[in-house]
Amino acid sequence: MKIFKLALPLLASFGLLVSATAIADTTEAYKISHGGKIYDNWAKTLMVASPTETHPSYPAVSGRTGDGTWRCKECHGWDYKGAAGAYSSGSHFSGIKGVSGVAGKSVDSIMAIIRNQTHGYTKAMISDEALSNLALFLSKGMLDPTPYVAMPGKMVKGDANRGAGLFETLCAGCHGLDGTLINFGSSDKKEFVGTVAAGNPWEMMHKLRFGQPLTPMPALLALPNQDMLDILSYTQSLPQK
Ligand code: HEC
Ligand code: HEC
Repeated sequence: MKIFKLALPLLASFGLLVSATAIADTTEAYKISHGGKIYDNWAKTLMVASPTETHPSYPAVSGRTGDGTWRCKECHGWDYKGAAGAYSSGSHFSGIKGVSGVAGKSVDSIMAIIRNQTHGYTKAMISDEALSNLALFLSKGMLDPTPYVAMPGKMVKGDANRGAGLFETLCAGCHGLDGTLINFGSSDKKEFVGTVAAGNPWEMMHKLRFGQPLTPMPALLALPNQDMLDILSYTQSLPQK
């Protein structure tokens, strides 16, 4: 009887461990959410060093330099539309086309593009396994944000009242009830959840769906898009500085 009592919780925790590992190794949701974080910042997500010199394919017109020019989002945008989207003008203009055109394409064909000369990502930077998750994200994980962001005001079409409840249960524990507990900017130029939501809803949408690289912030990918939109809509009313 004693043994039985001991063995049961042991077995149960073993079972849990096994299934958790299996999920991490095989499920598409995990791979896509990992791929989305790699798109955001591959060096951070994969904990490898990024080159510090400017990416050779980064156009001089834009005036940006250094390791940031190696991030997928810097050339292709948070909205995946490159020069046809939010980066069509302004300080992030690169003139490069978006990646939305590869949605639905095979993982192998997308992997080949990211390994091409134009991109120059070596296996030491992005391993084959990481690359296949990134390609899966591009094939199946992008959400076209255009229908959800009203221009020119960038107001997100969501139910802010419903979003308040979601924010308070899913986000406030880390970011505070008004989103100002973590400052992503500096002491002179503060940046809060509200700042990102109002200023760059496309970035926020990506971060909400895939999480923030190398932090415990969860990816909401498995929730209905409506939840993400309602949270985003609510956070646009939070303090911005
Ligand atoms: C320094 C700029 C730059 C960076 C950084 C960059 N790319 Fe590209 N990418 C390009 C250029 C240039 C093209 C070719 C565009 C063309 O054909 O006109 C391209 C094309 C693509 C295409 C093909 C799009 C299509 O519809 O044909 C995909 C997919 C792609 N890139 C994915 C990525 C991913 C994923 C990353 C991050 C790991 C990345 N890129 C980082 C410059 C960049
Ligand atoms: C477990 C804690 C945690 C939870 C829960 C959490 N976050 Fe975060 N979030 C963080 C951390 C840590 C950062 C990174 C701070 C930094 O880079 O300085 C972050 C970053 C952010 C950023 C800034 C991204 C950027 O780089 O511009 C936004 C926006 C954000 N979170 C929104 C949210 C929202 C909305 C929710 C709820 C859906 C949420 N977070 C849930 C911990 C959390």
